[in-house]
Amino acid sequence: PNADQAGEQWRPQAHYTPQKNWMNDPNGLVYYDGEYHMFYQYNPEGSDWGNMSWGHAVSKDLVHWEELGVAIPHTSQYGVFSGSAVIDTKNTSGLGSPDNPAMVAVWTRADVGGNQSQSLAYSTDRGRSWRRFSGNPVIPNDGRKDFRDPKVFWHEDSKAWIMIVSAGDHVSLFRSTDLKAWSHASDFGQGIGSHAAVWECPDLFPLTDSSDGRTRWVMTLSVGANEETAGSTAQYFIGDFDGSVFFPEDRDTRFTDVGQDFYAAQSFEHVEGRRVWMAWLGNWNYPYSLPTGDWRGEMSIPRELSLTTIGGKRTLVQNPIPELDALRGRATDLSGLKATDTVTALGSGRTVEIDLTLDVSHASEAWLGLARGTVDGKTQEVRVGVDISAGTLYLDRTDGGLTQVDGKDEGTTTDFALRRQTQYRPTGSTVRLHLYLDRSSLEVFVDDGATVGSLLVFTAPSCQEIVLGAKGTATITSGSLTPLA
Ligand code: FRU
Repeated sequence: PNADQAGEQWRPQAHYTPQKNWMNDPNGLVYYDGEYHMFYQYNPEGSDWGNMSWGHAVSKDLVHWEELGVAIPHTSQYGVFSGSAVIDTKNTSGLGSPDNPAMVAVWTRADVGGNQSQSLAYSTDRGRSWRRFSGNPVIPNDGRKDFRDPKVFWHEDSKAWIMIVSAGDHVSLFRSTDLKAWSHASDFGQGIGSHAAVWECPDLFPLTDSSDGRTRWVMTLSVGANEETAGSTAQYFIGDFDGSVFFPEDRDTRFTDVGQDFYAAQSFEHVEGRRVWMAWLGNWNYPYSLPTGDWRGEMSIPRELSLTTIGGKRTLVQNPIPELDALRGRATDLSGLKATDTVTALGSGRTVEIDLTLDVSHASEAWLGLARGTVDGKTQEVRVGVDISAGTLYLDRTDGGLTQVDGKDEGTTTDFALRRQTQYRPTGSTVRLHLYLDRSSLEVFVDDGATVGSLLVFTAPSCQEIVLGAKGTATITSGSLTPLA
């Protein structure tokens, strides 16, 4: 097969991918007039990072996407880096009209020389065509090396647009009444959280804690490639926001994902009644040589966010949006299946949803082996499991087929075969594992979404088996395996 056909074997069916070329961060996630818009970092000219432009897709249900043309192309002077979009319903900017409000995109102009500043583009035809604002940049750069990825939202309590921008080791917050003139309100971040690498792609939004019914503000941030976390990662803070300043309620470092491949997450603006986000399933440690052919980059499934308090610790909860249920085929009941010091076949498939509750009270370890098979006499698989004796939950692609890939710097290689784990103890005797395996990706939601892991998967496409493994006895008390179409 030629490179393109080989790549098609990896193309996820329940996730967004561009037909061809390179994609990274989601940008400008916004709902308007019956459509969800997803823009994204896109190279219209190739399958490596470069010529950064905003690609565009629309969906009525967040599940089935239609790819449209490039929305905001790069120029010879600059790349169009990450950012966000809002609907200027009250026409505060004057860029639309009260009857036909503008969709306003706020993005980083990344000059060939390296300077980064914040600019606007706008559309008055539901995102189909775009013009750059004549007064760009709306926030010039006062000498910062990193100054990018603006996320903008309307703050009703203080009646202003808020922009949060990453700036190396902190974020800066700005306020505006018209999206065009911005004043600096505050900085946040120095001396708190993970500073293993540059901060990128911030977001800030309110969520209600289901355990006390009170609203808190959540700030999320991506952290560039670094050795501490074997690549790039993402973290969050919980606190309050008064329209100018973010007040964290504690100084804990929290990560959004146990796995390796959930980056640059952004939440949708103007969605009523819920907060949904998605991220690039990728990692800046090894972005370039994944074997997907002439398309490269996939989005996570959209996830609904909430807060809860577990063991005294307020925690971000992520769960697959219910719209994904529309993809379900005929489910196989797995209830009662068990493994005792062995592996038990559960079924097969590489575009599947598995949702099961596992009794681990008689096991010291239990795991699901996914995308499993034998290649050249060797087992390839990716595991998600709990090690009860060690008190960990893990995602493991040590035997995942692909072992070494090109690193982020020219001429370097990096380990793709790795295991990631977090401290974890089941509450009671069971563990719930709800997962989506989709050809080249795995997203696991543990115990109703309080722990989440995302991992790219590149065992050979022939590896289709799904097994339950255990040390001791692990029993599926209830559960199903459902192919997705
Ligand atoms: C994050 C990022 C952003 C930047 C974009 C460029 O993945 O590095 O900070 O705007 O990618 O494509």
